[in-house]
Amino acid sequence: MNAIFERQSVRRFESREVETEKTDAILRAGMSAPSGGNQRPWEFYVINDKDTMERLAGSSPYAVSAADAALVIVPCFRTEGLIYPELVYMDMSACVENMLIEITAQGLGGVWLSIAPYEDRMQNVDEILGIGDGLRSFALIPVGYPEMKRTVTDRYDKNRVHEI
Ligand SMILES: Cc1cc2nc3c(=O)[nH]c(=O)nc-3n(C[C@H](O)[C@H](O)[C@H](O)COP(=O)(O)O)c2cc1C
Repeated sequence: MNAIFERQSVRRFESREVETEKTDAILRAGMSAPSGGNQRPWEFYVINDKDTMERLAGSSPYAVSAADAALVIVPCFRTEGLIYPELVYMDMSACVENMLIEITAQGLGGVWLSIAPYEDRMQNVDEILGIGDGLRSFALIPVGYPEMKRTVTDRYDKNRVHEI
């Protein structure tokens, strides 16, 4: 799949809107991720409101690009009713990576802005979104048409491969 190799973090965006079908495709990709025991702990907030996006951009010192995007997806995880709670961060990471690849496949750009596991950032985002009991924010994914793209280099490194 070429999108895996073309994916890159995009932090600056054109002012163009993102089509609803493309946003749906990205969410579908996230929900198609593998998860421990198929527990699928995810829920998603889709933020189009500029004021909320600016507040999210201030939720972490490394989240400024959230203010510049067409929209921000906030993958969240349930904290109750899980079969394997210890696997939730792995589940959510698979979900985010799936979305980043689909963002690329849709001709869009995005970046993983870390919120979890930093408790202060999680509290900031939970409060901004009004997330209540049983749900926590995991990451921010600003999405939009890239202002520019870098040349992606091949990161294959044979020295990292150990054959026995
Ligand atoms: C777990 C994780 C957390 C990250 N957190 C941030 C972040 O808070 N802010 C940011 O600008 N980029 C963040 N990134 C993006 C990385 O900086 C980026 O993936 C890395 O520099 C490699 O560049 P590439 O994505 O273009 O290949 C994060 C990536 C991962 C996987």
